[in-house]
Amino acid sequence: MSSDHHFNLGRTEFGDPTNAGKLMSLEDAHRLLGEWVSNERLQLHMKQVAALMKAWAIEREGADPKTAQAWELAGLLHDADWEKFPETHCQKIVKELEERCIDPVVIHCIAAHGPKYFGVEPESMMDKMIYVFDELSGFIHAAALIRPAGYEGMDIKSVSKKLKTASFAAQVNREDITDAISRIDQSLEDIIRFILDHQKEVH
Ligand SMILES: [Fe+2]
Ligand SMILES: [Fe+2]
Repeated sequence: MSSDHHFNLGRTEFGDPTNAGKLMSLEDAHRLLGEWVSNERLQLHMKQVAALMKAWAIEREGADPKTAQAWELAGLLHDADWEKFPETHCQKIVKELEERCIDPVVIHCIAAHGPKYFGVEPESMMDKMIYVFDELSGFIHAAALIRPAGYEGMDIKSVSKKLKTASFAAQVNREDITDAISRIDQSLEDIIRFILDHQKEVH
């Protein structure tokens, strides 16, 4: 979907500021995923991004439990509409969360997970990290799947090498990864290490 602008949300403000601090419980988020997503691979992708977001919030941003939950929630729901509403990907989940009166911070984060597609620039660290984790998480999982030992013993070097191999997981957009990394202070190697350390336990 490169250069395809039909996902463009046409706005950059989401939700109602008076809903600040209002989160959905993780149980309700999982229930929504159960209703909208039957593809287990897609469910796993969202759970992986959720785990990375939560871990980053706590370990790198010193987030309190509620803030960490907001990060986790954004990861968990960012592609919730992809399977059932492919024509209105992102628009549908954004609307759903606005109707449920969810904190605008969570909605903006979801809307910012693909700036080229949705037309929303990542602003907060939370926005920037969902963009960073989205493609890289899937890429590293694809790399783990083809190894007999899976994540075990996988290192930064082998991931970097595969990133430079255009034919490997060709659907993963390398340009998006480079763009996402350029927006944060951490190196690609640091992010790969973080994903390797935090994603293998997610099922
Ligand atoms: Fe997406
Ligand atoms: Fe995603």
